[in-house]
Amino acid sequence: MKMTLTGIFFILAGIIYTEAMDVAVDVALNGCTDTDGEKMFGLDGEEMAHSDWKAGNPPMSSIYPKSKVKVGTENSLICYITAFYPPRLNVTWTRNNKMMTQGVSTSQLRVNLKDGTYTMISTLQFTPQDGDMYTCTVEHSALDQPMTREFDVEVPSEPSLGPAVFCGVGLTLGLLGVATGTFFLVKGNQCN
Ligand SMILES: *[C@@H]1O[C@H](CO)[C@@H](O)[C@H](O)[C@H]1NC(C)=O
Repeated sequence: MKMTLTGIFFILAGIIYTEAMDVAVDVALNGCTDTDGEKMFGLDGEEMAHSDWKAGNPPMSSIYPKSKVKVGTENSLICYITAFYPPRLNVTWTRNNKMMTQGVSTSQLRVNLKDGTYTMISTLQFTPQDGDMYTCTVEHSALDQPMTREFDVEVPSEPSLGPAVFCGVGLTLGLLGVATGTFFLVKGNQCN
């Protein structure tokens, strides 16, 4: 009987531990989802107010890299600007507080059919270096003051190996608990 209880204890401990690790894996994976400008602003448009044509509509903006950031590997920073009217604005880029003019390109204006506001994308070619700070600043007549978005190049010290090892060890320990429990259960039953 004692053996059986020990077995059940180990099995429960193992299962609980394994489940906990699953949750940890889930959280880790969801935390890594790339952001997408279009999704962030819910361009489905339901909630987007109709513009007051005289006052104009202030832009919303976000800044994000086109591809996964790797130090020393050429990439693009995207400044996604949407929901503005009238269709006139200025975009300026800085790197470490210095104005950038080279490597900047600007998409054509695109009208959002739902409400007649406009979307534009400004792109800056860049080669990420650890600690660099970039900004995209938008000037528009409907904004009281220029709107700035910042992107910092931050290199994690242990690139993505950490979570994988952590989860692997955790799952192994959990499964080991189940195995140990089963062993004691079987053994306990044999003794009876
Ligand atoms: C864009 O910049 C120009 C030149 O600095 C300025 O005259 C104009 O008012 C700016 N436009 C907006 C929408 O801020």
